[in-house]
Amino acid sequence: MDVPATRSADDGTPGGEGRWFALPRQPERPNAATEGEPRPAVAPGGHLGPLQRSAPAGEASPDAVLVRRTMAEVAPVADEFTSYFYATLFVRHPDLRALFPPAMNVQRDRLLKALLTAAERIDDAPFLIEYLQNLGLGHRKYGTRAEHYPAVGECLLGALSRYAGAVWDGRTEAAWVRTYTRLSQVMIDAAAADELRAPALWHAEVVSHELRTPDVAILTVRPDQPYAFRAGQYTSLETPWWPRIWRHYSFASAPRSDGLLTFHVKAVPAGWVSTALVHRVRPGDVLRLGQATGSMTVDHNRGSGLLCLCGGTGIAPVKALVEEAAEHGRRRPVEVFYGARSVHDLYDIETMRGLQRAHSWLEVRPVIDRNGLTQLPDALRTFGPWTDCDACVAGPPGLIRSAVKALREAGVSRERIRHDAVEELVVPGR
Ligand SMILES: Cc1cc2nc3c(=O)[nH]c(=O)nc-3n(C[C@H](O)[C@H](O)[C@H](O)COP(=O)(O)OP(=O)(O)OC[C@H]3O[C@@H](n4cnc5c(N)ncnc54)[C@H](O)[C@@H]3O)c2cc1C
Ligand code: HEM
Repeated sequence: MDVPATRSADDGTPGGEGRWFALPRQPERPNAATEGEPRPAVAPGGHLGPLQRSAPAGEASPDAVLVRRTMAEVAPVADEFTSYFYATLFVRHPDLRALFPPAMNVQRDRLLKALLTAAERIDDAPFLIEYLQNLGLGHRKYGTRAEHYPAVGECLLGALSRYAGAVWDGRTEAAWVRTYTRLSQVMIDAAAADELRAPALWHAEVVSHELRTPDVAILTVRPDQPYAFRAGQYTSLETPWWPRIWRHYSFASAPRSDGLLTFHVKAVPAGWVSTALVHRVRPGDVLRLGQATGSMTVDHNRGSGLLCLCGGTGIAPVKALVEEAAEHGRRRPVEVFYGARSVHDLYDIETMRGLQRAHSWLEVRPVIDRNGLTQLPDALRTFGPWTDCDACVAGPPGLIRSAVKALREAGVSRERIRHDAVEELVVPGR
């Protein structure tokens, strides 16, 4: 059996005086701590290179095998692993605590998920690079800097060596050093490039707040600097009452000439940010926004029909897509299935009907759920055929899953279906 080459000290750092990670972009510095072990190379040059060197099709690279083995070992003790990781991070680097929210329950889960995603897709360079670049840009609003990455890496490897002790050895450690160095360098490079073109975050004054139902508000804000986005995307938003607690909200209109941004927010029970946005925010309050992200964008030059399935506030990005299609001017048929639990929950149906009256290429079909079951898949089967359509799906995770399944059964190919990341959409009733 392999003997762990590096033992964690109680504070989660590697044994001895060494460090696993050099500061980013300084490959001449040593970056492996273990005496007698070959020092794994820091990703050279542009730092995207090593990730692009994928294993032959169907075959996992040696690093991928070792990284996945470690993650499998850690998965059953995920809670203890993440608690230990953050505890050591904040003990060793107390200055980093201020970047994180006071309550750490959600983020703890996300970091491990990100690592699992990276481990799972480690040989899929195009996916991983795009994923990490977005993550790197998103980290700018937290105040994350390049020099923070080695600190996180040290504590991560410390926690891995402790909780994956049964499989941890010198080769595994070297694989993790290489992997973390590459992942973090993609994030660092993306953030550095983005610094040249956009602020880390925007301040946005609330200019209107309309309560559409007792728990859904429509908010319009004016960013302090030009804000670029596409219909179908979403942003991160922070309120003044809950600093460092960021949540995602979709843009509810296509980019406007006056630069204003609109969001639909549903207050979820005991929800920190949504409740504040629905019940507390007033015109004049200033929110903070991260940058726009998300891949539910549409190429309006395509001739095929566009099918949109949405529920709850999922109507927001769909309305934005319809507006963008209208501005584009090309007469592409667009069908919107708008699902809700009751007529009362179809809070934006009049706006959608107004758009339908204005545009002959648009068909809007409200769909009311029965017995707590979403009727969207049934409604989809009643109409069609959809085989030659592009499709967008927006709303709560359950709706996304059932709509994607129904679309696949209706013959829409996987690559033509777009939706936001389901695993992030954890809160029911969106
Ligand atoms: C891409 C994307 C786009 C979105 N767009 C919109 C939008 O346009 N409009 C909109 O209203 N919302 C949207 N959301 C949801 C939004 O980001 C928030 O999740 C929602 O507003 C709740 O945030 P909160 O802070 O109020 O609730 P929180 O304080 O985060 O939680 C509220 C409740 O949910 C529970 N909860 C929290 N996390 C979990 C979890 N991991 N598992 C199970 N239960 C949990 C909590 O216990 C609590 O009871 C979007 C989400 C994503 C990922
Ligand atoms: C490879 C390295 C890293 C990975 C994979 C990673 C991953 C993640 C993920 C997936 C999230 C969830 C929210 C989001 O998507 O933005 C997140 C949030 C966050 N990360 Fe990282 N991260 C890394 C490095 C760092 C570093 C070096 C810092 C700085 C100390 C940092 C600070 C934060 C903060 C402050 C949050 C927000 C927490 C919250 O909103 O609850 N991360 N990270």
